[in-house]
Amino acid sequence: MTKPLAMAQNSGVARRDARQRILMCAPDDFDVRYVINPWMADQIGKATRSLARAQWETLRRTLARTVDIELVTPAAGLPDMVFTANAGFTLGDTVVVSRFSAEERRAEEPLFRAHFAAQGFNLAPWPQDIAFEGAGDALIDRAQKLVWCGYGMRSDAAAPQTLEAVLERRVIGLRLIDPRFYHLDTCFCPLAGGFVMYHPPAFDAESRAAIERETPPEKRIEIGEDDASRFACNAVDLCGEIVMNDASPALQNRLRAAGFAPLLTPLGEFMKAGGSAKCLTLKLVEA
Ligand code: ARG
Repeated sequence: MTKPLAMAQNSGVARRDARQRILMCAPDDFDVRYVINPWMADQIGKATRSLARAQWETLRRTLARTVDIELVTPAAGLPDMVFTANAGFTLGDTVVVSRFSAEERRAEEPLFRAHFAAQGFNLAPWPQDIAFEGAGDALIDRAQKLVWCGYGMRSDAAAPQTLEAVLERRVIGLRLIDPRFYHLDTCFCPLAGGFVMYHPPAFDAESRAAIERETPPEKRIEIGEDDASRFACNAVDLCGEIVMNDASPALQNRLRAAGFAPLLTPLGEFMKAGGSAKCLTLKLVEA
């Protein structure tokens, strides 16, 4: 059972046998129509639908080379539904469907719930009064049985311990303190082999200490202001490839040195809404 971990530690990059499944939602009604994070300020009405569609298609095709893509039907009037990372958090056959803190996104909840139910997931109970924005804030560690859960911006402070009780898996809460990095997946990315890309100033001191405690120095890939602002942490790691909006040459070299292959795919239209590669995806085969 510990084989994949041992392999990951030896090679630096884990290669999964089971084909991954990723949930995406076509950007049929994607737009910036309200402001619920700082990236959306001044962007209302400024996203170009055709360009967004082309960027999303390229991402989908890129991922489809290595994983199966499952699609949830987009709904008119829900411009952020394209960000399926916020549909919920899955572990095995269980899903915790998101309870959005952002009012504007609440109407997505029943649609995602219906999709997961139709796909045969067990819907875990979740208290209505605790905001939790799914895999935007909950990320599975790739080297140990551990889930990292961001809170303080969108998910409630009670979300980490609630998640731990629901999943019966160790959860470490990380407090987010910079509104630009309002979901954990905008500033933190666990990678195969126990590597972690993260932007330290996005976290309070205690949370930084927790990351350092769990991650040996040589596995910490600290992301500076420039790369963090290009959403470099918002990456999808797949079989050694790291699919991301953009990364500086220095970061690309650092990732290659760690055994990864950075793969850049521009997602500028979605950045106007405060999201990029990772936000547009939800890994469904997580264990
Ligand atoms: N406009 C969306 C929101 O603020 C973007 C969501 C990005 N998703 C993510 N997982 N970071 O909710």
